Amino acid sequence: MKQDDIVLEINRLRKERNAIILAHYYVDGEVQDIADHVGDSLQLAQAAQKSDADVIVFAGVHFMAETAKILNPKCKVVLPDLDAGCSLAEGCPAEQFERFVAKHPDHYVISYINCSAGVKAHSHCICTSSNAEKIVRSVPEGQPILFAPDRNLGRYLIEKTGRDMTLWRGACVVHETFSERKLIELMVRHPEAVVIAHPECEEPVLRHAKFIGSTSALLKFTISSPAREFIVATETGILHQMKKASPDKSFIPAPPDGTCNCNDCPFMKKNTLEAVRNALATLEPEITLDPALAAKAKRSLDRMLELS
Ligand code: 13P
Ligand code: SF4
Repeated sequence: MKQDDIVLEINRLRKERNAIILAHYYVDGEVQDIADHVGDSLQLAQAAQKSDADVIVFAGVHFMAETAKILNPKCKVVLPDLDAGCSLAEGCPAEQFERFVAKHPDHYVISYINCSAGVKAHSHCICTSSNAEKIVRSVPEGQPILFAPDRNLGRYLIEKTGRDMTLWRGACVVHETFSERKLIELMVRHPEAVVIAHPECEEPVLRHAKFIGSTSALLKFTISSPAREFIVATETGILHQMKKASPDKSFIPAPPDGTCNCNDCPFMKKNTLEAVRNALATLEPEITLDPALAAKAKRSLDRMLELS
């Protein structure tokens, strides 16, 4: 089937099902273009919470769709491909995390939203990259903090806030792929280009960034900055909105180590147009959750939303 026909079918089914499509900035541009809302993790969680649609098709990864279900339990939430996971969420199993928390009984537990409902249930508060600094600063001075699962975001937050934080040692496979050596080579070839980076990147890459922020913050920065050229150290999907918003500026993806396309998130890219169409047609795979676990996980998400 041609792409235009798939889009027509998506539009017909979306109406029939009273559905909305939420898409993260990292999915392919053609999927972003058919979405009702495109955004970062926080914006999509807020859109899911407010939605009065019968169905949410979440073109993102599992933890995002699970979060949408927790925040809007009456709504049917479908994820176009159940294998759309996340290395951060997978690297932090709930049982191990529970033991980690039990070993640090006096700590306030902040978890990055890229984690399972089981981890959220053992956390005091959730954060995303766009509100992490604010959430950390909201904890009373002197109160030690446990932060999971991203050690790179955690290290960045320690540097920004000076807070005492014990970190879970997880990382994102995409953001750890950038090579500092190749980045420097690129900076030499493009001396006018401004380097911008997501805080999931490692410190040697962040060190070169003029601006560090969430996907939506990076997009905003490229719109308001007078610079004409940017080197972007995050997943390549965000370049779609950057180019759309500033067609006269140029955007260069930061290079991964080696010759792979490792700066493409393999999980996000599972959300093809066909997969979205199939999810709308079959209303599967559906996200389901144990209600008791969902209620526990919701407490830490609600705390984040109150502070955001
Ligand atoms: P944000 O869009 O919230 O910045 O998060 C990036 C990410 O890694 C999503 O998986
Ligand atoms: Fe997870 Fe990294 Fe993919 Fe984001 S880019 S979904 S953190 S693996």
